[in-house]
Amino acid sequence: MGNVNVISHPLVQHKLSFLRDKHTGSKEFRELVEELAMLLTYEATRDLPLAETQVETPICTATTKVLAGKKLGIVPILRAGLGMVDGMLNLIPAAKVGHIGLYRDPETLSPVDYYCKLPPDVQERDIIIVDPMLATGGSAVEAITIVKSAGCKSIRLVNLIAAPEGIEAVHKAHPDVDIYIAAVDERLNSHGYIVPGLGDAGDRLFGTK
Ligand code: PRP
Ligand code: URA
Repeated sequence: MGNVNVISHPLVQHKLSFLRDKHTGSKEFRELVEELAMLLTYEATRDLPLAETQVETPICTATTKVLAGKKLGIVPILRAGLGMVDGMLNLIPAAKVGHIGLYRDPETLSPVDYYCKLPPDVQERDIIIVDPMLATGGSAVEAITIVKSAGCKSIRLVNLIAAPEGIEAVHKAHPDVDIYIAAVDERLNSHGYIVPGLGDAGDRLFGTK
């Protein structure tokens, strides 16, 4: 079973409070999503392997460490996942970025696929799938299935807020995937929105409400 890593760092929890606030406008909302994505990426990459190397400092030769594992890839789930990409690229600028377009059918809450473009060498990369919201889990489960179908064997999922139902769905469908998250909320409401959540992440990011 994959791990659920709830990032309780005070900076994360502080920024999340402002993100949830219905009075926070799109500009500040976008900035907060980007900052939170960066902080969560720091935690989600904590176990990346290192190898020793040597550099010449101005004083002497030093034995130091550099990243040594597979290359990384970031795959946002459109639209709302786009808001997290720049924050992640700040920390891992060499990562390639793929895109998966999904929207939730408002009646069935099932994900509808409309776009997919992944790095051609996705099977050789550690992939981080990102989306602010993990509600029923349908979108995340579908995105993970798509990335696995492309041959990728190492996937982690980074979200800002999850419902317990979404975590359970990901665990059931993809027990090998670890989840990194800022908060696990109480439940879903009858429209499939996370309670208390933050409302519709895509609409708040892009001002489309
Ligand atoms: C939101 C969110 C997730 C999905 C989560 O996207 O960004 O992708 O809902 O819900 P789920 O866990 O029940 O699948 P939405 O479908 O609203 O599309 P948008 O990002 O284009 O607004
Ligand atoms: N998608 C959102 O943007 N918010 C929710 O609460 C659930 C799904």
